[in-house]
Amino acid sequence: MPQQREGADVRRGHVCPWWVIRTFDNPLRRLFHRPEHLLSGLVQPGDHCLDVGCGIGYFTIPLAAMVGDRGSVTAVDVQPRMLEGVARRAAKRGLSARIRLRLATDVGPLADQPVDFVLAFWMWHEVPDQASLLRRLLAALRPGGRFLLVEPRLHVSGKAFAASVARATAVGFEAIAEPAIALSRAVVLIRKSPGGGSEEPHLPASHAETARRYSGTSASAV
Ligand SMILES: C[S@@+](CC[C@H](N)C(=O)[O-])C[C@H]1O[C@@H](n2cnc3c(N)ncnc32)[C@H](O)[C@@H]1O
Repeated sequence: MPQQREGADVRRGHVCPWWVIRTFDNPLRRLFHRPEHLLSGLVQPGDHCLDVGCGIGYFTIPLAAMVGDRGSVTAVDVQPRMLEGVARRAAKRGLSARIRLRLATDVGPLADQPVDFVLAFWMWHEVPDQASLLRRLLAALRPGGRFLLVEPRLHVSGKAFAASVARATAVGFEAIAEPAIALSRAVVLIRKSPGGGSEEPHLPASHAETARRYSGTSASAV
């Protein structure tokens, strides 16, 4: 049962406890993480998005505003209390109709329809089986869709981050960009096409360089 998993994982220290999240999810965070700025170019009106490890919705709420009333955001978290926080914030902003709340499970589809954009912000190091979640994210993304993976620099070494990106490329993603995000390590990934190339039709040279850099990194490099 997800509720049992929540308790067990929090006690083992695998997930950020709900009472800690206020230390970084507060109005001061906007000074260095401005969601609309970080996500512009990755999210369009009408998009369907997945915010995995959404916490209490620091990114879910702005994403819901960005996608407009034709789009949607599926907010996934392993802790019911986090989803309750998203629900409260969404109701205050009048955005509940665009947000689907989903308690994380270990199997099954992550969203009800193919998504255009996946966000995993400061949560990836808490995932016990990254390869399994990567395969589920790949299945959730529509061709050409993007996955922004962001990890806290203080908590996750360059080597550990490169190993996560290598795991992603091993299951079928390609790294196309490394956006500069304060206090973070970040990469944009897209689905590789079955023929081996990316499904992104016009990759600029800088994207190809990112893909080359990460293609030589081993998933077991941690
Ligand atoms: C440090 S918080 C970050 C929250 C949010 N992304 C943000 O940037 O404010 C990490 C969140 O990921 C969630 N989480 C950890 N492992 C998860 C998993 N396997 N599936 C879904 N959520 C998970 C935790 O419950 C927690 O809410």
